[in-house]
Amino acid sequence: MKRNRIFVTRRIPEAGLEMLKEHFEVEVSPLDRDLTRDEILQMTAGAQGMVSMATDSIDKDCLNRLSGIQIIANYAVGFNNIDIDYAREKGIVVTNTPGILTEATADIAMALILCVARRIVEGDRLVRRGDFKGFYPTFFLGVELENKVLGIYGLGRIGKAVARKAVAFGLRILYHDVEPLDRESPDFPADYVSFDELLRKSDFLSIHVPLNDETRHRFTRKEFERMKDTAFLINAARGPIIREEDLVYALENRLIAGAGLDVYEFEPKVHPGLIGLENVVLLPHIGSAASEVRERMSLMVADNIIAFFQGKVPPNRVN
Ligand code: DGY
Repeated sequence: MKRNRIFVTRRIPEAGLEMLKEHFEVEVSPLDRDLTRDEILQMTAGAQGMVSMATDSIDKDCLNRLSGIQIIANYAVGFNNIDIDYAREKGIVVTNTPGILTEATADIAMALILCVARRIVEGDRLVRRGDFKGFYPTFFLGVELENKVLGIYGLGRIGKAVARKAVAFGLRILYHDVEPLDRESPDFPADYVSFDELLRKSDFLSIHVPLNDETRHRFTRKEFERMKDTAFLINAARGPIIREEDLVYALENRLIAGAGLDVYEFEPKVHPGLIGLENVVLLPHIGSAASEVRERMSLMVADNIIAFFQGKVPPNRVN
């Protein structure tokens, strides 16, 4: 019997590919880079399933021109790169990879908090430049975490994991989300506040919401003006939640004290204004970049595609 064909837009860990190969003809893009729209369309011709990356923009136009694809398994928990409602209208199932990257992404948010508070990356640069002239009491002061307020914007899986880890560092947790936590978790160490209070009270404000029409540009100059001038903004979610130009303004004009970023508005481009600033830590979108996690993600996309072609509802269907 003819096997279904699955196209993978960028090499993923072997474990998932092997699993897919047991059931399907699998083709991985031979180009070791993001694909253009035309390349995606050409390379998916004749395929029934596709593994996409968060960097592949699968909008209405792309969906209209993808012929024969029945399932798109996104190799990411975020799926803002795919128009999932339109995909549903076109009868295309979309899946993601939730849960398995929660702790790793929360670790990166905590790493950014520690880095900006204690000026870790800046200190490393100073030592390498040969500028470490010895200890003295007022040298290279940062701020401690104990008893500071961590505001979490978006208390989903990742936001909750950050809260749990942050409590161990002595941080007090406030959060804002579309609605307060349900009553099943009365002991969760976080207090619900309005978005405005979150801005005004946070010493560290960490973003953990998905990118959508409500959250795009949720942080602009107006929000920075309401934050403490000693506060640090952390983003390991999606870049366009922050208007990057306004963040540069806020940092240059000390509306806030600093920022730790793993994601960017126009990724992989980083606003040139961020590059020269000492009070920002810039990571290259590595929230889920732990080898165990990336392997589990590859198995999860395979599971979803296999379930779909076995006539079942894929476990991580999002539309
Ligand atoms: C995710 O899974 O959403 C990560 O940010 C990778 O895109």
